[in-house]
Amino acid sequence: MADTAAAPGRRPIVVVSNRGPVTFAADPAAASGVTARRGAGGLVSGLGPLVAGTDAVWIAAAMSEGDRLVAERGVTDAEGYRVRLIDIEPAAFSDYYDRVCNEALWFAHHGLFDPVYEPAWPPGWVDGPWAAYRAVNEQFAEAVIADAPQGAAVLVQDYHLCLLAPRVRAARPDLRLVHFSHTPFAPSAWLRMLPDAVRIDLIDGLLAHHACGFHSSRWERDYLDSCEDAGRLANATFVAPLAPDPDDLARTAAGAAAVRARADLDELVGDRSFLVRVDRIELSKNVLRGFQAYEALLEADPHRHGTVVFGAFCYPSRLGVAAYDRYARAVVAKVEQVNERFGTASWTPIHYDPTDDYPRSVAALQRADVVVVNPIRDGLNLVAKEAVLLSDRDGQLVLSPEAGAWEELGEHGAWEADPFDVGATARALADALDADAEERARRAASLRRAVSARTPGDWLAEQLVAAEVSD
Ligand code: G6P
Repeated sequence: MADTAAAPGRRPIVVVSNRGPVTFAADPAAASGVTARRGAGGLVSGLGPLVAGTDAVWIAAAMSEGDRLVAERGVTDAEGYRVRLIDIEPAAFSDYYDRVCNEALWFAHHGLFDPVYEPAWPPGWVDGPWAAYRAVNEQFAEAVIADAPQGAAVLVQDYHLCLLAPRVRAARPDLRLVHFSHTPFAPSAWLRMLPDAVRIDLIDGLLAHHACGFHSSRWERDYLDSCEDAGRLANATFVAPLAPDPDDLARTAAGAAAVRARADLDELVGDRSFLVRVDRIELSKNVLRGFQAYEALLEADPHRHGTVVFGAFCYPSRLGVAAYDRYARAVVAKVEQVNERFGTASWTPIHYDPTDDYPRSVAALQRADVVVVNPIRDGLNLVAKEAVLLSDRDGQLVLSPEAGAWEELGEHGAWEADPFDVGATARALADALDADAEERARRAASLRRAVSARTPGDWLAEQLVAAEVSD
């Protein structure tokens, strides 16, 4: 599809995403009036290292008071990034981010609607939240039009920003636009659960990019189906899964915070097996069924009592969305129930830690005997790949085929866990925990080879190749 002859990589780069690589706090004591720190979230940790220290301009929404101060200053240098923050009126931001991005698009792409009850778009939804989503995308489009260097490759990230391309294309024909979905893409039947006009807007917005990229060929196919379903001819598409940076992981693992956390975990686990998961508490991550599977395992095999600790490093997110708040409570209740049912004076079956502590998560993945990643549906799941690279004890990976990473890892040593089948997940956990040293080593080596086949730089290079596709 792409015309690789056009020397990708020479164009200036503009990254556009909802969440920026840096966030600012108002600080009257600082000369600039603000202090900067690294932005939160998976997207930033995956993409940040690829553009830090380069000339790339990163356009994102202002999300804090400090961010809003910086928004007034135009393109600003901070923490190795050139950032341009956009001040969005809070009510419009809430409609765009909570109502549309997190409650509608996220649910559609991850198959989280329960069609008996939801969605039930209230009257005015299209003229209200959806209009706000449009307006916020227009604000991003204006920033791109104003700040993108001549001839830049504009790399638009994720479901937050599906509608900016038509306006940018019209005003700046010199730019090349690539959209990348870090989520899955809804199969056409699920996309039809959005109001019809919204579905068509979305598809037309995505089609206005020179190319659209995905983490797995399944999500690419779902996008192509939805284009066809909308009666549209598809644009160029490509598959480019992200890869973790092994040096970055090794640096974190060797840092003081991770070393301390590792010592604490060694003491906590002792000579028991360590089953680990590291996740945001996110509906699509399937944390609850993971605990149900562990409970089923303990119920079926009393000889396992006291021999395994489940380290669940699951931190709350998006509590502003009612369904997440409910789910987070259900997760905590399940942990308490399992610990009460099976725990003894000397053994807590689930070690539940809700703090978002990156070095500690790295230490846990390093120490894990088995890591479980069982999403209902997930764009990639970088944690699965990080776990493979970090393990220093031939850690086993129990992986859902619904994670984008399955396409790369499924045939290379991962244990398959059907995310909806609690019994099958329990069996996968048992098999992974019981595998002998030889099998562990074989699977771990095969997974390491599969993960190491791609570097983080590949992802960026492939965006730039896609940007050169002929009009
Ligand atoms: C995860 C997903 C990304 C998404 C991000 C948004 O990291 O993999 O696709 O962009 O969540 O998270 P936020 O906290 O910004 O809503």
